[in-house]
Amino acid sequence: MRETLTDRFRFLRAFVANPRQVGAILPTSRWAVRDMLDLADVPRADLVVELGAGTGVQTGEILARLGPNARLVSLEIDPDLAKLLDERYDDPRLQVVCDSAENLDAHLGGKRADVLVSALPYTSFDAGLRRRVLDLLPVALAPQGVLLVIQYSPLIRRELRRRFPSVQQKITPWNVPPAFLYACRAGTS
Ligand SMILES: C[S@@+](CC[C@H](N)C(=O)[O-])C[C@H]1O[C@@H](n2cnc3c(N)ncnc32)[C@H](O)[C@@H]1O
Repeated sequence: MRETLTDRFRFLRAFVANPRQVGAILPTSRWAVRDMLDLADVPRADLVVELGAGTGVQTGEILARLGPNARLVSLEIDPDLAKLLDERYDDPRLQVVCDSAENLDAHLGGKRADVLVSALPYTSFDAGLRRRVLDLLPVALAPQGVLLVIQYSPLIRRELRRRFPSVQQKITPWNVPPAFLYACRAGTS
């Protein structure tokens, strides 16, 4: 409980310092994170990649589901939040990277993600950054991989549909505000 309050404060502080980069005043709820991860098969993934890890609410749940020999690469652009993640999770499967999602390719060692989890605030990004990051997503994903996206509006759906033949949408009420979840696949099945 105490950690949750401290995390909320850290998150709010990051938002006040850089509102367009953080894009929300509260971390995602654990229930919404679970709803999102249920849309993919994390236990069978060899490589999971997380974009915009924040205070780690998704990181912790991904690690809880991840196999013993799998890897999680978590990108977070805010140095204070990246440091928090590094200190919080002492897990050899996790690599925390303090860098922009734009540079994702440089951190995957030529591998592609089986599950790619994005909590980036696309609608508050400028158009150029949004396009650069969205264009990278299909390339970073393994052929049978799944991209999971959490957003607070459906505005990004059209952009996802332009890049992925299969886009499944779900709304989770277990978050403030209720969140739109997307599971995107290269194949149509
Ligand atoms: C809406 S918050 C989500 C945080 C956390 N995953 C959660 O669900 O509570 C977006 C996060 O993305 C990070 N971020 C924003 N732009 C980024 C970028 N270009 N590359 C990597 N992380 C970025 C922010 O610092 C922030 O922590």
